[in-house]
Amino acid sequence: MSTTSRCRVCDGLVTEFFDFGRQPLSDAFIPPTADPAEEFFFRLAVGVCRECTMVQLMEEVPRERMFHADYPYHSSGSLVMRAHFEATAERLLATELTGPDPFIVEIGCNDGVMLRTVARAGVRHLGVEPSSGVANVAAAHGVRVQHSFFEAETARAIAEREGPADVIYAANTLCHIPYLGSVLAGVTALLAPDGVFVFEDPYFGDIIAQTSFDQIYDEHFFYFTVRSVRAMAARHGLELVDVQRLPVHGGEIRYTLARAGTRAPTPAVAALLAEEDAARLVAPDTLAGFAARVRGVRDELTALLRELRARGERVVGYGATAKSATVLNYCGIGPELIPFICDSTPAKQGRLTPGSHIPVREPAAFADPYPDVAVLFAWNHAEEIMAKEAAFRASGGRWVRYVPRVWIG
Ligand code: SAH
Ligand code: TYD
Ligand code: ZN
Repeated sequence: MSTTSRCRVCDGLVTEFFDFGRQPLSDAFIPPTADPAEEFFFRLAVGVCRECTMVQLMEEVPRERMFHADYPYHSSGSLVMRAHFEATAERLLATELTGPDPFIVEIGCNDGVMLRTVARAGVRHLGVEPSSGVANVAAAHGVRVQHSFFEAETARAIAEREGPADVIYAANTLCHIPYLGSVLAGVTALLAPDGVFVFEDPYFGDIIAQTSFDQIYDEHFFYFTVRSVRAMAARHGLELVDVQRLPVHGGEIRYTLARAGTRAPTPAVAALLAEEDAARLVAPDTLAGFAARVRGVRDELTALLRELRARGERVVGYGATAKSATVLNYCGIGPELIPFICDSTPAKQGRLTPGSHIPVREPAAFADPYPDVAVLFAWNHAEEIMAKEAAFRASGGRWVRYVPRVWIG
């Protein structure tokens, strides 16, 4: 086991600040009949580059193990996220298109949650999506999709075939890609001279502020900050020209990159940089404080679940998220503490959670009858889920949350 590695952005020295130990693939929900010996595990540990400040995993999982025909995550599963991506598409269509035949490319379009709006507007577009199951859903919604991993080669071929892109967009995908150098080389090959590369991903500042350690899992290779993104852009002749904080998925930033010198950065960039500096976001004592709080959440959550079991209360989970894999496996929570988790995703239902082997059931099982307590693993969708399941609380049920701290009520 090594506590240093090389930065995937600048080749600097990355020093580890937290080790979650042996973890499974977060989205590898297994059939109950599967041989547990076949399950893939890796060491989930996270570190920070002392040169460029990029926060990243210490070990990489081969991409084909995570993103394939059976990738179960469907972006359209949340009403709030559907509205978010519709508004995003409308904004890109209204502000970023030029010329008579504009072109939008999305990296990781999943089931087409964003590009559906672009397709409906009749604007030329292309989604690049390696997971063919979700890509086929996008295609069924009228989205043009190419089944491949976006990297330098893919991007060059698209540029040659279809010309430059006014907008390259990626949501919750850029942070999934360890070979970022290749992706950015592809972006610079494909982007129109005055085009923009817009991407949004979980913000490391929010992860630290809320101790949302469950954002750390195999698919999330990078944990961006304004400072690290700005440095990464500069290495590729790009410039960070805007940042916007987003309330979705527990706190994200939408970064806008343009070719260096083509657009004046908005005041928001300098303002957030100053905020990050004041917070000393990646300083050793900040990271040590985060690590101590993560252990505290683990101890409190497991103590609470054991106490509930001892009292004979009926506990279930809500939302078989990828994030929950880190919580369940790091805290050692299995079916003895949480007998099942409800989730609206058909591809997860009837299967077991990776590593922790908790059965996943359809949302109807939640009310049949209501449990005493529900652990909200999809805490980033709290408003939507609590509104939908208002009858649970009305019946005397209580929710357990663990972000930003363990809480029952
Ligand atoms: N944009 C959607 C999907 C996020 S899930 C949303 O915000 O909800 C991440 C997606 O990225 C998955 O569908 C995965 O298959 C895809 N992906 C992973 N690596 C990729 C790569 N190199 N190029 C393009 N897509 C990739
Ligand atoms: P999400 O938190 O979006 O992402 P990740 O898997 O990357 O952590 O996952 C939300 C999960 O919760 C997804 O499996 C669908 C499920 N879900 C419900 O069961 N009901 C709901 O109302 C919503 C919004 C989500
Ligand atoms: Zn670096």
